[in-house]
Amino acid sequence: MEFKIYKATEEDIKYAEEISGLYVESAKDRGTGIAQRSPEYLIKRFRAGNSIVALQGEELAGYCYIEVFSNEGYVSNSGLIVKPKFRGLGLAKAIKEQAVALAREKYPKAKLFGITTSDVVMKINSDLGYIPVSFKKLTDDDEFWLGCKSCANYEILEKNDRKLCLCTAMLAKSAEELENMKPNIPQAKRNENE
Ligand SMILES: CC(C)(COP(=O)(O)OP(=O)(O)OC[C@H]1O[C@@H](n2cnc3c(N)ncnc32)[C@H](O)[C@@H]1OP(=O)(O)O)[C@@H](O)C(=O)NCCC(=O)NCCS
Repeated sequence: MEFKIYKATEEDIKYAEEISGLYVESAKDRGTGIAQRSPEYLIKRFRAGNSIVALQGEELAGYCYIEVFSNEGYVSNSGLIVKPKFRGLGLAKAIKEQAVALAREKYPKAKLFGITTSDVVMKINSDLGYIPVSFKKLTDDDEFWLGCKSCANYEILEKNDRKLCLCTAMLAKSAEELENMKPNIPQAKRNENE
């Protein structure tokens, strides 16, 4: 099955309502915490050029957005969702790959992070180089944690002073950290070794 996966633009605002509905359905189905996002909330992410959309023809198939915190010290990947009939085809992984690339291109200094209760998302994250960390390794930006307010487990998060909740936190390196990890071998020497 062929999907078109790309950075969403103003033209994709027409999908915001449907995406918002998918979160509601998913929270009901899973009976677990998943933050809700209104169409207005999503439209802001579209306009900021921080959303990835997947379509099958003209039909919405999946979605994800990135958000920047702590003066561009952190970028979250949030709201990954695939319409039920398109699940199990590798679509979430393909969407997330593009979100990671977008985050590293736009915010090269930012560490990438996400929190999730989904074992599928944990697997996708691990495949993309994320590692599990404690919550204290994440942003302390209020903006991020207030996003959890619509989650059924928010009380647990607050009770634990934002240091623990039911989600697993995962962190990946910034573009700059990856760049600095490359061995510093002069070009001539590198050619010799190739
Ligand atoms: C979680 C979700 C986004 C996954 O979407 P998807 O397109 O079906 O996922 P993919 O097909 O890309 O699967 C990614 C990997 O997980 C594996 N996987 C998929 N479904 C799985 C399942 N139910 N159990 C175990 N592994 C599974 C796949 O085999 C794949 O691994 P591979 O790359 O080694 O083959 C989708 O189920 C969804 O929208 N769920 C509701 C919303 C949600 O929970 N979002 C996450 C909030 S943090």
